[in-house]
Amino acid sequence: METYRSEEVGGLSMRWWPRSIRWQMFAGLVLLEVLSIGLFEALLIQQQSREVHKRMLQRLSHEAVSVAVQATEALQEQRPNWVGFSVKMMGESPSVAFVKVTDPAGNVLYVSQGEPEQVVLEAAERAQIPRILNNGPRTFGFGKDRWEAVKPIMTGSDLRGLAWVETDRTWDFQELDSILRSTLIFGAIWVVASALLVLLLSQSISRPLAILRRGTRALMNSPDIRGSFPLPVSVHNEIGDLIEAFNRMVASIAEQRAGLNDTLSLLDSMLANAPIGLAFCDRRCRFVRVNKIFADMTGASLSRHLGRTLPELLPQPAAQLLEETVLRVFTSEEPVRDVELTGQNGPKGHPWTWLASAYPVRTTSRQVRWVGVIVMDASDRKRSEEALRKTEKLAATGRLAASIAHEINNPLEAITNLLFLLHNFCQLEDPALNYVAMAEHEAKRIAEITQQTLRFYRQSTLPTRAKMDELLGSVLSLYHGRLNTLNIHVEREYDPEMDLFCFSGELRQVFANLVGNAVDATTAGGRLLVRARRSQNWMHPEEKGVRFTVADTGTGMEPEVRERIFEAFFTTKEVTGTGLGLWVSLEIIVKHRGIVKVRSRTAAEGKASGTVFSIFIPDDPTLAAADRPTVATEA
Ligand SMILES: Nc1ncnc2c1ncn2[C@@H]1O[C@H](COP(=O)(O)OP(=O)(O)OP(=O)(O)O)[C@@H](O)[C@H]1O
Ligand SMILES: [Mg+2]
Repeated sequence: METYRSEEVGGLSMRWWPRSIRWQMFAGLVLLEVLSIGLFEALLIQQQSREVHKRMLQRLSHEAVSVAVQATEALQEQRPNWVGFSVKMMGESPSVAFVKVTDPAGNVLYVSQGEPEQVVLEAAERAQIPRILNNGPRTFGFGKDRWEAVKPIMTGSDLRGLAWVETDRTWDFQELDSILRSTLIFGAIWVVASALLVLLLSQSISRPLAILRRGTRALMNSPDIRGSFPLPVSVHNEIGDLIEAFNRMVASIAEQRAGLNDTLSLLDSMLANAPIGLAFCDRRCRFVRVNKIFADMTGASLSRHLGRTLPELLPQPAAQLLEETVLRVFTSEEPVRDVELTGQNGPKGHPWTWLASAYPVRTTSRQVRWVGVIVMDASDRKRSEEALRKTEKLAATGRLAASIAHEINNPLEAITNLLFLLHNFCQLEDPALNYVAMAEHEAKRIAEITQQTLRFYRQSTLPTRAKMDELLGSVLSLYHGRLNTLNIHVEREYDPEMDLFCFSGELRQVFANLVGNAVDATTAGGRLLVRARRSQNWMHPEEKGVRFTVADTGTGMEPEVRERIFEAFFTTKEVTGTGLGLWVSLEIIVKHRGIVKVRSRTAAEGKASGTVFSIFIPDDPTLAAADRPTVATEA
């Protein structure tokens, strides 16, 4: 039998009842047939035993009458010993247990077995004697299932004796037994045959049903249902129709699932690949889903977001502002756009600016289930705007400086001419001549400075061959005053006549900034090395160019500072610095397809402190170069 399960039916445990239709039908039929055959047997036995009993009484009466008649004839013929014969003959009959003939008083005269002297009437038999009517036989039961018939033996009107016949009940019982046995055998054959028939018939129901059940399970458990379907239609009846309908339903579900899967993968790929941060929050402002970009923005892993609230993952006050925005969308059910959130990655980290928009996500047409948050990192935009503002300011300052330099040039020319006239055409005494010479010298310096200032401003848009004196000498003369004041010893290691194909104005800006930074970092008595040598690219040796070195014995940089020096607006100089110097320098070096390397050490790191900037500029910047790292910082 198949599996049995405990099921509560109306509070009763049906542990024993089979679960499959097949075995239920089988068990039901067998039970029904066993019960009906049992009932039939009981009724049959009852009716047959009544019948047998009735026949037994008739037979018994008949046998008693037969013994009495034979005895009467024997007595009339005056042959009383014939009575003994007929008693013995009747005693041989299979349905007779015992026969005896008594006198009217009940004394035993003849018996079918044994000796008459040894037999006496029992009390129950004696009790019958007064009730015996003249002619009729009388049947009666006594003892344990014993039946007897008694018939008076008459000759004329004289009562000559009594003929007693006791029946042998085993004969009756055998008859009942054989009826019972044959009906039982028939019943058993009937039960087995009909059970087999039911088993066969039920297969046509249970098999397709088992197929259907397997199919339903496969449909529920597996997301991919293609392998198991369509289900085979093995029968052509209502169940076959049901399987066909089921197959059609599965095909339509598969179609719907495919459509749904397509939509889901579309949404998933949108969520994963959208270049903006996306997050979904529930009413308690907990994340239910976020994409990778959003996780990158918060700095926590994707899985850490799920179930966490906004303040748990975002710093204040951005978290509070976003939380308020999300709650506002939940209550108003309207989107909120372009909320600016600001924060910082850690105490010393980068400041960031996000632009967030929130919108309601409805699962039913009425209720807002989640709020979707779109976040864009606007830090770069913000910084560029800031940089643009500052650059514009710088450009304006540059223009102003250039126009001032230009305006100074005219009176300066007049002064120089006048000093020349004074020197050459006036008869001056020696001390006065000395003063004039000094004035001429200083006027020349002013002229040089104004020339430099103008040169910085009027950058040539085309690269030209520029000499080292023009690139480095001019910068050093610009810083001549500060270098002297701070008593910084300058070591020049370059050939002033060596030249390089470059945007000279822009490269001058690079060196001016490097020298300016070195001067800022170096204390009085320090040293500054400015070197330029023909060299080759240390990453691509086939490329020839010039390697510049600007080294100082200044304070040096901490590793955290060193990492960020090329960022726009990163400065440690608070009010005096803009933090744009190295950022612009890097842009210029990249434009020349050059490389910059920084090594720096603070006093805390041991030995002498200082910073070395090494820059390689290829001598043919028009040559296209492969992508390569431009910056390398070292301790
Ligand atoms: N030679 C150096 N020695 C020590 N620190 C340096 C040196 N050069 C650059 N730095 C560090 O790098 C930072 C960034 O330099 P950058 O030239 O970009 O900006 P700045 O000098 O601060 O300002 P700006 O050049 O706009 O006036 C400096 O603030 C300084 O901390
Ligand atoms: Mg600087």
